[in-house]
Amino acid sequence: MTEMIIESPDEVIAFLKAQHNLIEDMFDQVLLASDPEAREEPFAALRQLLAVHETAEEMLVHPLARSKADAGDAIVDARLKEEHDAKALLSDIEKLDITSEQFIDQLTTLREAVLDHAESEEIDEFPYLEKGLDINDLKRLATAVRAAQAIAPTHPHAGVESAKLNFVVGPFASMLDRARDAIRHVTG
Ligand SMILES: [Fe+2]
Ligand SMILES: [Fe+2]
Repeated sequence: MTEMIIESPDEVIAFLKAQHNLIEDMFDQVLLASDPEAREEPFAALRQLLAVHETAEEMLVHPLARSKADAGDAIVDARLKEEHDAKALLSDIEKLDITSEQFIDQLTTLREAVLDHAESEEIDEFPYLEKGLDINDLKRLATAVRAAQAIAPTHPHAGVESAKLNFVVGPFASMLDRARDAIRHVTG
């Protein structure tokens, strides 16, 4: 994903959708890795991207959608529950042997859940961002999204990602904490 200038709601939504596509690519990168050991690096990048993406949504996208949408509470509560369930499943998956069949089975289940979740966001939630944002909302959202862009891996292939992967240390729960700190730091 190339660097994007984010100055309008359309661009914020385009960025979030591009991250959804990248998440799908990263799941496939892990699931289709040439041998079980080769799953390690793309799985780390996937966890990092999910931590950053879902945290930015949780901290800024969902609260804005909740305040703009007529049926905001129902829409956002459903998305938050999906995110909560996905995080719990991912925390379980990272305890599994990465070379096992069980790892592949569970990650395949998570892939379906996360992609369904992303589709629901795109169809039911993001259109409210397009309509309802004022300039201050947009500024905060764009700032958070740029922070997410700065710390998220941009491409599933290894090599250029090593510096950004320094962010990936420890379990998924600690990645979520670090993503939260990074976004809070820029949005105040
Ligand atoms: Fe989400
Ligand atoms: Fe999302």
